[in-house]
Amino acid sequence: MEKRLKPADHSLHGEIDVPGDKSISHRAVMFGAMAQGVTRVRHFLDGEDCMRTVKAFQSLGVSIDKNGDELHIDGKGILALKEPAEKLYFGNSGTTARLMLGVLSGLPFTTHAYGDPSLTKRPMDRVMKPLKQMGARVEGIDSGEYLPLSIIGQPLKAIDYTLPVKSAQVKSAVLLAGLHAEGKTTVTESSLTRNHTETMLKAFGASIESNGLTTTITSEKSLIATDVHVPGDISSAAFFLVAAAIVPGSKLTLRRVGLNDTRTGILDVLQKMGVYITIENEKEIGGERFGDLTVEAGKLTSVIIEGDIIPRLIDEIPILALLATQAEGTTIIRDAEELRVKETDRISAVTTVLNGFGASIEATEDGMVIHGKTSLRGGKAASYHDHRIAMMSAIASLITEKDVIIDDISSIAISYPSFFEDLNRIK
Ligand code: S3P
Repeated sequence: MEKRLKPADHSLHGEIDVPGDKSISHRAVMFGAMAQGVTRVRHFLDGEDCMRTVKAFQSLGVSIDKNGDELHIDGKGILALKEPAEKLYFGNSGTTARLMLGVLSGLPFTTHAYGDPSLTKRPMDRVMKPLKQMGARVEGIDSGEYLPLSIIGQPLKAIDYTLPVKSAQVKSAVLLAGLHAEGKTTVTESSLTRNHTETMLKAFGASIESNGLTTTITSEKSLIATDVHVPGDISSAAFFLVAAAIVPGSKLTLRRVGLNDTRTGILDVLQKMGVYITIENEKEIGGERFGDLTVEAGKLTSVIIEGDIIPRLIDEIPILALLATQAEGTTIIRDAEELRVKETDRISAVTTVLNGFGASIEATEDGMVIHGKTSLRGGKAASYHDHRIAMMSAIASLITEKDVIIDDISSIAISYPSFFEDLNRIK
């Protein structure tokens, strides 16, 4: 579905209640479905990716009802999960695919799983390598490197694994397999990635401990149901944080945004670049901190984004690249080679789209060099069927000279179905 967007003719003002966090919503469904008892999930993200996880567990025999943005999961425990009658379809969702491989590997039946053309090209061997060390068996073309895959459930044994990639999905898959493996499973990472799995598994009664970069989990017969309140997704809020930062005179408030330290790299970078951000009404529920963010435009300067901060803002790099086009000086992004294996190659997509608008960006192997400040003309933009690329172009349209025409906006429903309603409310 094509969309034409006009530049903003005044500054942006108002409030947005951003939808629930995608990573936390996936995990709430998974752990609720594996727990004994009823789990209620509030402010669940009703996006396509999270619904893949809901449908996967419904196929495994779990009763899950949705009422608006609230889920009611009637869990009967991990051992009650049943062999699905049909193949599981994971759509575009990397989180569903990687975490489900961890769940399914130790269950006593065979599951067949597949995804859409984008997910089919994304590496699964990073998950299968440690899972195979635990005793998992998969069959598929290319020796199980990509979907479609058949997972032939096996009894698993614990491992001690050092992650070769900075990936919360791989870490989570190993921990979830560890939940029904014999012994103590330990995972060590080189930079801290999002820790929602660790935090939420603890709330569901798992024996899990983190110490710095190392997490240990002991096998558990069953999790115990608990209600989950999902904070707003900082990765969705990011689009409006940047919108306020690039349209002069703007001031926006984003309500109940998740502020877990492993996700707030974008706030550190925005403040370094000269954007004013205040946080109010901070609270913590289920180990996850959240609060209201008010953002105001300031004079923007370039930054270097590298090292340990990268996993703390990996999904925000496309929108940060747009911001950097409006900052004085050269912004350098490095150590972000993971962007090449996201829903699309985001280094290449961001560079092509923003340079097409008139920006001056050089793509590097592991990031981008962005020369600012450049004015943006607008024009046609491909979405590459990637929600975050489509939303980046839509936010760019606020400051372009001419209209922006995005070839296909349907992917936005993956993480932010109400994106255009929110954009229209503040524009
Ligand atoms: C996610 C982890 C990140 C992130 C993705 C969601 C998760 O992926 O990019 O959008 O929910 O665990 P990687 O673990 O592949 O870095």
